[in-house]
Amino acid sequence: MKRALISDVHSNLEALTAVLEDIKSHGITEIYCLGDVIGYGPNPRECLDIVMKLPVCILGNHDQAAMFDPDGFNPVALRAVYWTREQLEQGTNASDVNRRWDFLGELPRSRDEGERLFVHGSPREPTNEYIFPEDVYNQRKMQVLFDRTPLYCFQGHTHIPGVFTMSGDFLSPDECQYEYRFTGDKALVNVGSVGQPRDGDPRPCYVILSDESVIFRRIDYDPEETIQKIYAQPDLDNMLGDRLREGR
Ligand SMILES: [Fe+2]
Repeated sequence: MKRALISDVHSNLEALTAVLEDIKSHGITEIYCLGDVIGYGPNPRECLDIVMKLPVCILGNHDQAAMFDPDGFNPVALRAVYWTREQLEQGTNASDVNRRWDFLGELPRSRDEGERLFVHGSPREPTNEYIFPEDVYNQRKMQVLFDRTPLYCFQGHTHIPGVFTMSGDFLSPDECQYEYRFTGDKALVNVGSVGQPRDGDPRPCYVILSDESVIFRRIDYDPEETIQKIYAQPDLDNMLGDRLREGR
């Protein structure tokens, strides 16, 4: 059965809508979200209301930051956290506000499905640890991460899609022609970011997972509407909009 994996929506409603349309056009009904529904972008309530309907959502560090004061956030990200918190306190009625906070408060840090593990960050530290492409040069780190991976681990967090293989490679979507076929060896798959790609390609990214492979999908959308909404909010730094044009 095919399933779509999305991550790092970051309150970008236009990107989320475009991705969901693409998923629907493939006839896929089961969608997992690997965290960071909110933070950075202008539509936290709207994005949460959509993701709340999915069968699985994992806690991301920005979702956590909305609830508890975060560690290690830069000033731009921190201001966006406080603004997001304010937005979540607002709503047409109290039950909507409470529903969103309850959803965030109950998000699991990981989902274990036997051979498949779903996290936001890494199998060692599901919420906060980054696995960057250059970590392939840190053999000790990769060894620990693979030791903690049942067969496949799916994650987000870096906003850089691709596959880490047991042979020590990182394959970007380009390098694997947008499809990585499982070999039976362990693999760590970063599904990329819907709402704030950072691999130099501004198109929202997600993956279609089947028993045989993961297919990386890049979706065309016009980021200008989102960018203008960010510009209109003094607490959301303009660079959070600018970066959407370049995917950085
Ligand atoms: Fe993120």
